[in-house]
Amino acid sequence: MNQVYEKVVKCYNSIKDRIPFQPKVALVLGSGLGNYADTMDVKGEISYSEIEDFPVSTVPGHEGKFIFGYVEKTPVVCMKGRVHFYEGYPVSDVVLPTRLMKMMGAEILFLTNASGGINPDFSAGCFMLIRDHISCFAPNPLIGSNIDELGCRFPDMSKVYDPELQTIIRSKAEEYKIPLKEGIYVQLTGPSFESPAEIRMLRTLGADAVGMSTVVEAIAANHMGMRICGISCVANLAAGMTDNPLTHDEVQDAANKAAPLFRELITKSISAF
Ligand code: HPA
Repeated sequence: MNQVYEKVVKCYNSIKDRIPFQPKVALVLGSGLGNYADTMDVKGEISYSEIEDFPVSTVPGHEGKFIFGYVEKTPVVCMKGRVHFYEGYPVSDVVLPTRLMKMMGAEILFLTNASGGINPDFSAGCFMLIRDHISCFAPNPLIGSNIDELGCRFPDMSKVYDPELQTIIRSKAEEYKIPLKEGIYVQLTGPSFESPAEIRMLRTLGADAVGMSTVVEAIAANHMGMRICGISCVANLAAGMTDNPLTHDEVQDAANKAAPLFRELITKSISAF
């Protein structure tokens, strides 16, 4: 068996008896959304550190566990804390949790993150529905021998973000009067923030928001045939767009402030999936 796949299976086998139900939606909580589970009807939790060989995040504010619960009637597994490529893990480890949640039975992957706004129409605290992404600055998680058990060698990427899920999210944003921008998310490796010249380059390439996560997870999920959607919380304007230097604390503060509305948009959307 492929070694990367073997590791996912090993993780799954080490927790399968503790998974309380088959989740429909796998929800990845980005910065600021860590407390989302407080709004769920929680049925169980598994800390990443209890899972044999599982990558454990080292980023402050990214406490690591799977939380199982209901969002209204929908069974959801949440990732409270994700691992990032910049922490030094191989990209196969960064997407291991995504693969594990598919193995638990999740059909839909809902990705959230905090980002820097590149589009001049954006402001700190706004939300962006991810319509597509640019992946070529991050390592592709499918490099290496293909995991035939999960998907094909050359997956189509023309509709990674499910059009029907996007329609639902748009309509819920409108119904609950939550302003929602749309655009293209680009993942860079980090951990340094971008330079102003890089931001100008990314804008020229068509990116609206930049961050250090999400795209690799979307590629791995797309490979497995999951339906994917994503919303980014624009925590700051990207480098060079204001005079302020960027700090992780500022990103977290902005994401925390936006959290109540973000939570509402996620809950209403998931209930309608
Ligand atoms: N750049 C990259 N990642 C980020 C940013 C940013 O400006 N803000 C939040 N995450």
